[in-house]
Amino acid sequence: ELGQFEHYMLKEIFEQPTSIENAFRGRLDDDEATARFGGLNLDPQELRRIDRIVLTACGTSWHAGLVGEYIIEEFARIPVEVEYASELRYRNPPMSERTMVFAITQSGETADTLAAMRECKRKGHPTLAICNVVGSSIAREADGGIYLHAGPEVGVASTKAFTSQVTVLTLLALFMGRIRHLSYPAGQRMIANLRKMPDKIRQTLECHNRVKEIARKYYTAENFLYLGRLHNFPVALEGALKLKEISYIHAEGYPAAEMKHGPIALVDEQTPSVFVVPRCQIYPKVISNMEEVRARRGPIIAIACEGDDKVAELADDVIYVPDVDEYLQPMVTSVPLQLLAYEIALLRGCNVDRPRNLAKSVTVE
Ligand code: F6R
Repeated sequence: ELGQFEHYMLKEIFEQPTSIENAFRGRLDDDEATARFGGLNLDPQELRRIDRIVLTACGTSWHAGLVGEYIIEEFARIPVEVEYASELRYRNPPMSERTMVFAITQSGETADTLAAMRECKRKGHPTLAICNVVGSSIAREADGGIYLHAGPEVGVASTKAFTSQVTVLTLLALFMGRIRHLSYPAGQRMIANLRKMPDKIRQTLECHNRVKEIARKYYTAENFLYLGRLHNFPVALEGALKLKEISYIHAEGYPAAEMKHGPIALVDEQTPSVFVVPRCQIYPKVISNMEEVRARRGPIIAIACEGDDKVAELADDVIYVPDVDEYLQPMVTSVPLQLLAYEIALLRGCNVDRPRNLAKSVTVE
């Protein structure tokens, strides 16, 4: 089943061009420039009434939710909150009857996510699942939902499920946007861009050899910082989580500008900072955050767009990714970070598919 790959994690990273395609297959409606879902089980009137969305999840799925928050708010102009399921289940925040809830989960069995979802459902909110495993507890108990169709994810560290969750949340932003503020041509542009993503991921995966070299240079470090802004802030969190989980290196993700409010104290010659810095509206601001780290002699690994010479000057090592619109960047920028975690864990002799202390689905509270 592993084929040419040494581990499930690597196989699943390389499946992403296909798994992303499977997430949007049959769901793009060119005539109406929108997305279509078979299983939402809500009629258009009900959907139009929704004035707030709560996304609830744990771990990597929670990071996908953060990306979703940015994209849904941008395109659908609906306020979104992302809640840790473990907190939401006990927190009881005020939620109007027009709030729709999505539980995001690869396994569909995560105990906290299930409990948070049950609590929202009990209160009468439309409660849906964005889920990979068909027929799982969360998929069965939700009022409706959207499957990822990513195929089985065996590696304990979630990879392809993340990019599929982000794809589905982008489709949701398109769909909710088109029943509100998003124009027909804007919807068409999103569809055309989404169709290009499998190829963009294929191109991104070509960085594998470069990532191996970088891993050899840094694998003995004991601390890493991951920094990004806007859509790439959740990517920084996710990159740090991947490294922690499988290589047991301490890593923290931050919005890059938060550095100066504390974490910059950690920067020294032994602490690499991974900057996720593709071209974006506030690119110059991220560059100045890089300069702050460099001034303190912190090694910099950058994820940047092809041909970015400015970043090449500032960083010690650069991994290039294709240039895509900002809202689509997390799908490409997360890939080199998955590979980096994988290669570093291998060099440290860790069991990448079955890291210590972790289980594929967390069915206890
Ligand atoms: C990280 C990871 C975990 C899961 C989390 C939620 O690589 O695998 O953080 O993302 O336990 O799991 P699901 O998505 O199955 O609810």
